[in-house]
Amino acid sequence: VNPWLVRMLMVFTVSGGCVLAFSEAKPENGVLSDSSEADSKKKKVVVLGTGWAGINFLKTLKNPSYDVQVISPRNYFVFTPLLPSVTCGTLEPRSIVEPVRNIVRKKNVNIHYWEAECFKIDAENKKVYCRSNIAGNLNEKEEIDVDYDYLVIAIGAPANTFNIPGVAENCHFLKEMEDAQKIRRTVIDCFERASLPNLSDDERKRILHFVVVGGGPTGVEFSAGLHDYVKEDLVRLYPKVKEAVKITLLEATDHILNMFDKRITAFAEEKFQRDGIDVKTGAMVVKVSDKEILVKNGGGTSTMPYGMVVWATGIGTRPIITEFMKQIGQGNRRALLTDEWLRVEGCDGIYALGDCATINQRRVMEDILAIFRKADKDKSGTLTVKEFQEVIDDIRERYPQVALYLKNKHMRTLVDLLKDSKGDAVKGSVEVNLEEFKSALSQVDSQMKNLPPTAQVAAQQGTYLADCFNRMEKCERNPEGPLRFRCEGRHRFHPFRYKHLGQFAPLGGEQTAAQLPGDWVSIGHSTQWLWYSVYASNDVEVGTALKMSNQPPEKINILVCPEVKT
Ligand code: FAD
Ligand code: NAI
Repeated sequence: VNPWLVRMLMVFTVSGGCVLAFSEAKPENGVLSDSSEADSKKKKVVVLGTGWAGINFLKTLKNPSYDVQVISPRNYFVFTPLLPSVTCGTLEPRSIVEPVRNIVRKKNVNIHYWEAECFKIDAENKKVYCRSNIAGNLNEKEEIDVDYDYLVIAIGAPANTFNIPGVAENCHFLKEMEDAQKIRRTVIDCFERASLPNLSDDERKRILHFVVVGGGPTGVEFSAGLHDYVKEDLVRLYPKVKEAVKITLLEATDHILNMFDKRITAFAEEKFQRDGIDVKTGAMVVKVSDKEILVKNGGGTSTMPYGMVVWATGIGTRPIITEFMKQIGQGNRRALLTDEWLRVEGCDGIYALGDCATINQRRVMEDILAIFRKADKDKSGTLTVKEFQEVIDDIRERYPQVALYLKNKHMRTLVDLLKDSKGDAVKGSVEVNLEEFKSALSQVDSQMKNLPPTAQVAAQQGTYLADCFNRMEKCERNPEGPLRFRCEGRHRFHPFRYKHLGQFAPLGGEQTAAQLPGDWVSIGHSTQWLWYSVYASNDVEVGTALKMSNQPPEKINILVCPEVKT
């Protein structure tokens, strides 16, 4: 394996700040410590959520001039990439969590944690309203309201049911630790139930039919893990029922793992076919009853009896976010709109990051157009090559996502698009027709898409924002960001820059696919080792728990080839 890849992938987790402590998370009640007079002068920062975004914010925050209240119903951080391993018993829950109190006690910043759930944000009065959530019981009598100067919203997103009838009542989800533990118990329950005497063959088959809905990374990873669990462990424990076991993966679109490179998609589909996982594409689930699933496939519908369903069709919106968006006039969207500095649009002192937020790309495009208009001082529609280069540099500095496309050699760059739209750099000037430029930008826009709701994005946003908070005073005096458009002067900070470090998809049977920056794809046993190394680099215990042997893998099957996209 290319050592550069290993190093880079190690950086992925470490740069996300996800160093795990692996001690057992015990529920602890949040206790508000007495505030001294000095503390009362500090700026109050309220952080909602202890997931990837919230925890990375807390880990990076160093400046002691804040008084921080952390509010979350979960008093521990979960390393979600390893959550599917808990469903099959490969990992124990305590191996992938880190108690929040363990994190905050090491800080030199005043941080108080409350185990509570925020149910209302009042942006006008700078207050959040919360209910305690001790032992999983939301207690209306234990309501708390908390004032803030700065609010950091990092409450993630729930599983999306699309309001499909019966989903909430009959399906399992895979978002939280409790979900993973429940799935694990239910799988065993199905095997025990199917082993009871006096069952018809049909009934036994129904009970042992495991259906996964959604062929995204969650559904695929879980299906692969379940297949290994059944094949390696459960059929030995329940040999009499092994013939009745079936795993079906239902995906509404034409392929599973749509967001990955097509070589990974094809590999995963073929591997699942070989493993006997029944992948049905073009299969949209429209209703789930207690024993049957209604599937729309092609022109018609069919029913499918099941024993357990895991619903993995992506993420939705928390009701508190929906309410808040209405309050601040953001309408009915999936996620809170922020600018590139992660500030919630239309609010003062409120930041949103991770799965509950999205950066407003339309604004980015408008700003880029404005950069051009500003550079075209005499309104001739012509820029010198130097001016043109400055414009590109400016875009590069302000909008890293666009810069990502500018940098990526394998894609048509913005510069190419501009040259197409007119302009002749060779002659010393670039003629820019704004209308054509706009249409060129819209092509970049459609390629840019929104940042994906992943741990990588959430972790980097948490780190970025804490870094801004750490330097807040200094940057008020000496702004370091690029010149701003709408207001006078420079912005205090650089905008958020996302660095994509690649994505893994474990496919079972000790095989993993990885899509790395620059369109590098790696699939096979060695990639599984790469995956182990990345996570084991966080703590040896994970490696042990993942049943790693000291021997190198028997079969190396690695494919690494960049592909030129046009
Ligand atoms: P979360 O991590 O979901 O954290 C939200 C926090 O807010 C939680 O602490 C929650 O308790 C708290 N909260 C919720 N409601 C409230 C409220 N009302 N008030 C206060 N607090 C609240 N991404 C990757 O990049 N790579 C992977 O390999 C990967 N694997 C994944 C595997 C699985 C099974 C899943 C489900 C996701 C995976 N992801 C992966 C996606 C990644 O986990 C999410 O993108 C990431 O968790 C988002 O971080 P977040 O901080 O926004 O939200
Ligand atoms: P997803 O949104 O990525 O995929 C959901 C899938 O469900 C889609 O393919 C969609 O077409 C399908 N679907 C939707 N409704 C359906 C229906 N009614 N019937 C059948 N199929 C339906 O969701 P997922 O996998 O939960 O991932 C959420 C986020 O977390 C993504 O951003 C993903 O990248 C990230 N993640 C990353 C992982 C990794 O990098 N290994 C692992 C898990 C999640």
